[in-house]
Amino acid sequence: MQQSRPSSRTWRLGAAALLASLSAAVSAQDDRTFSSGYRFVEMTGEELFANVCQGCHMRDAGGAIGAGSYPSLADNRNLEAAGYPISLVVNGRRGMPPFGDMMTDGQIAAVVNYLRTHFGNSYQDVVTAKDVRDARR
Ligand code: HEC
Repeated sequence: MQQSRPSSRTWRLGAAALLASLSAAVSAQDDRTFSSGYRFVEMTGEELFANVCQGCHMRDAGGAIGAGSYPSLADNRNLEAAGYPISLVVNGRRGMPPFGDMMTDGQIAAVVNYLRTHFGNSYQDVVTAKDVRDARR
């Protein structure tokens, strides 16, 4: 039987720890996603980002690559067209969960406005609750 070299063993332990913490973050979100009728109570964009988005996109919105790949939202040109982040938050896409049923129009507008004006993003056009309502299908 072949022993793994210490360096690769150390790497694997580190990777396992990272995986464990990331999947904990993701499954905490999954509980929210699948518990019926869950509603976030946070109201400000800052609180919502910290409690909902940061688990995957990280505190500085810089994203992460580990158990999954979470894109950076910092300095992100994709946020220029406000409809794009609105649609992602409402409908989700692949690894990004849909939050449309868990947040009100006002909450989604608040977190999108926060994201588009922080982390090196400075898009000044304000998203309204009506914009979110129009984006819902
Ligand atoms: C469970 C993990 C997770 C959470 C929580 C999460 N996201 Fe995401 N997000 C992702 C993944 C994964 C992608 C990439 C989706 C893809 O590849 O299609 C993504 C993509 C995005 C994108 C598109 C970025 C780009 O450059 O195309 C935006 C915008 C975004 N997320 C915003 C948010 C906001 C705002 C929140 C909080 C309300 C949030 N996300 C919460 C996992 C997450």
